[in-house]
Amino acid sequence: MDKDELNLRPTLLRGDKDHLAPGLSRRSFFMAAGAAGFGGAATALSTSPAEAQSTDWTQPGNNNGVIELQKTTGSTVDGAVGIDYFGHCAIKITSPGGATVLFDPWRDDPSGAWGLWFKNEFPETPVDICMSTHTHFDHDAIHRPVSTMVLDRMVGNFEFADMKITGFADKHVCRAPGWYDWTNALGEFGVQACPPDNVSHMDMVVYLVETGGIRTLIWGDNRHNPPKEFWDAIGQVDVLTLPVDGSQHILDYQQGNDIVTKLKPKIIIPTHYLSETTSYTLTTLQNADEWVKSQNSYKMLDTASLSLEADDVAGMDREFLYFGHNAQTS
Ligand SMILES: [Fe+2]
Ligand SMILES: [Fe+2]
Repeated sequence: MDKDELNLRPTLLRGDKDHLAPGLSRRSFFMAAGAAGFGGAATALSTSPAEAQSTDWTQPGNNNGVIELQKTTGSTVDGAVGIDYFGHCAIKITSPGGATVLFDPWRDDPSGAWGLWFKNEFPETPVDICMSTHTHFDHDAIHRPVSTMVLDRMVGNFEFADMKITGFADKHVCRAPGWYDWTNALGEFGVQACPPDNVSHMDMVVYLVETGGIRTLIWGDNRHNPPKEFWDAIGQVDVLTLPVDGSQHILDYQQGNDIVTKLKPKIIIPTHYLSETTSYTLTTLQNADEWVKSQNSYKMLDTASLSLEADDVAGMDREFLYFGHNAQTS
């Protein structure tokens, strides 16, 4: 045991006897935490334990609705596709047949390293399927929605009721484009942010949802420049969600605009911005007003819900539909 290791080994942890596993020194625990979690270093320094255990076994209700819906798997149902915005990147899609999927429920960083981002716990909203694009705290509260299925970081194809979902594995933005150099913190935590040797929490899955004749792409925090095979696999996109805010935390304006030019979606929904309903200034995020107002065609919505018909969407061209501070809270 070297001198540093001796210096780093406390005899007490939170007033209890140190109960690290035999053979796991304080320093090796610290390094493992830094490699494993977004705020891993702070986890080891925190005065209260981080808790991430699933509480799904306590959920109300049961899967009776899913049993009914699975009988319709493979069918096509005409009608409107519902889109509900829960703030940040959390979006619920409802198929015309009534199947529901919710992406990227958020929570505060359990380690405390990144501060208070959200004003409330994510609502315990009932859905059939809950999915997450990646393991960052602002996208991974998969224990909060009351969901029959949890498909965390799913890559490949999934089909249920009148809904098809495809997950494409790619990588997170690894160089902050804005003034707040949050990607530099990963280096300070001792982990690699960028591929090919990135830490696992910088892996990403982008989801394509096909239902009601509308193809919706859930971008998450993906990088702006995925490889050609990624673009080829995605194909036509009707509704595109993109993480662009005034601080340019994930994508900057130009990167967002370039993706829009490339994919030519009918509708763009901005995400990952400061919402007075759900998030705090401490996020360092700003609203997306400036970016939206710089576009040729946009609509400032006064609701947190959209109902989209395929025929109407087909006649649109790069229309920005901005939820602003509207967000579902239950
Ligand atoms: Fe992220
Ligand atoms: Fe994020």
